[in-house]
Amino acid sequence: MGKALVIGCGGVASVAIHKCCQNPEVFEEICIASRTKSKCDALKEKLDGGKTKISTARVDADSVEELVALIKDFGPDIVLNLALPYQDLTIMDACLETGVHYMDTANYEPPDVAKFEYKWQWAYRERYEKAGITALLGSGFDPGVTSVFAAYAQKHYFDEIHTIDILDCNAGDHGYPFATNFNPEINIREVSAKGSYWENGRWVETEPMEIKRVYDFPEIGEKDMYLLHHEEIESLAVNIKGVKRIRFFMTFGQSYLTHLKCLENVGMTSIEPIDYEGKQIIPLQFLKAVLPDPASLGPRTKGKTNIGCIFTGIKDGKEKKYYVYNVCDHEACYKEVQSQAISYTTGVPAMIGAMMVMNGTWRRPGVFTVEEFDPDPFMEALNKWGLPWKESFDPALVD
Ligand SMILES: NC(=O)c1ccc[n+]([C@@H]2O[C@H](COP(=O)([O-])OP(=O)(O)OC[C@H]3O[C@@H](n4cnc5c(N)ncnc54)[C@H](OP(=O)(O)O)[C@@H]3O)[C@@H](O)[C@H]2O)c1
Repeated sequence: MGKALVIGCGGVASVAIHKCCQNPEVFEEICIASRTKSKCDALKEKLDGGKTKISTARVDADSVEELVALIKDFGPDIVLNLALPYQDLTIMDACLETGVHYMDTANYEPPDVAKFEYKWQWAYRERYEKAGITALLGSGFDPGVTSVFAAYAQKHYFDEIHTIDILDCNAGDHGYPFATNFNPEINIREVSAKGSYWENGRWVETEPMEIKRVYDFPEIGEKDMYLLHHEEIESLAVNIKGVKRIRFFMTFGQSYLTHLKCLENVGMTSIEPIDYEGKQIIPLQFLKAVLPDPASLGPRTKGKTNIGCIFTGIKDGKEKKYYVYNVCDHEACYKEVQSQAISYTTGVPAMIGAMMVMNGTWRRPGVFTVEEFDPDPFMEALNKWGLPWKESFDPALVD
């Protein structure tokens, strides 16, 4: 069907690329381009020999000029941005300049402010409409699948959704005292920020980890989970009409939280530059350099993830509850694509989102989050490509 340019070659990109190669009817040709070309070459070597033709390139995705040159040279139908949120705007600019569709898994975050929001990317709407190209934002698991779940609940089960609780449980054990499951810098910025949720048309802010609940997750059991700010809350508040409350909870073990608190207390999670032996360094970036590379967790991680959404609302005048979730096994993911489940649950929907745009199912000029499209083909694809989902119509609710 066509050509895709993948920017980034980390944990998530590696899974998405494996999945593109399993789907050669759609991804006939891919180019893997990243800052460190040797990683792209190593992955190409591993995957070469299948039907998808693979090439590699070096690119600094902070440079629109370099990106434009690469896009013009390779001529893709879509660019999959699987680098970091800092690169979202430069890659969107390059796609605009070359008239190529765009997709990503995380919304823009300025490097010097630990704050992520859609406003910077929503500002591209008119320009993408005029250019006749699609930007698909947030096609990972959360955001991504969780937002598709919301569109699916709205379409099939509710006249009005009143509350959404997004529950992200990782019961995987990698055996290290402290490590993050995806890019440590992005992960720690996310979990050390203030929490917030959407209620009755406004944001309610909480201290970091202030709200704790215990939930008995299907196929996993009881886990502590904490309320975090998360990006899909912002777009779901706009797109799920009449919703009264949206919250996001993530599970953390006590050891992770104790280590994080200690690192925070000694200043290691700060993004303010400091002088060190005559050089400016950012403590959080230094911390990233000493922590285990998330890609190295794959062979060590055992256990499962369970990520899903619980909805309450009204159908035909009656109150209704609905829980839809995916359970993913770290070891099974490793066996299939040599990655743990966190990268897997993000990389699979990234491939599916790109496929939806490439095959025209989700192609519309403008800038969209995934819940703005028909959820049914995406839900079907989840079952087919490794993230089957389950439903419950009488789940325990989170108080
Ligand atoms: N929606 C979700 O469910 C979800 C879940 C997890 C992660 N994510 C998002 O997925 C994305 C990738 O995460 P990850 O865990 O795969 O991160 P990662 O392992 O750190 O990989 C990031 C990749 O981007 C490359 N990169 C960074 N800056 C670049 C630049 N200026 N130019 C070119 N390439 C650059 C890195 O290159 P080097 O090898 O040279 O460093 C690396 O290959 C992030 O945006 C993250 O927020 C989304």
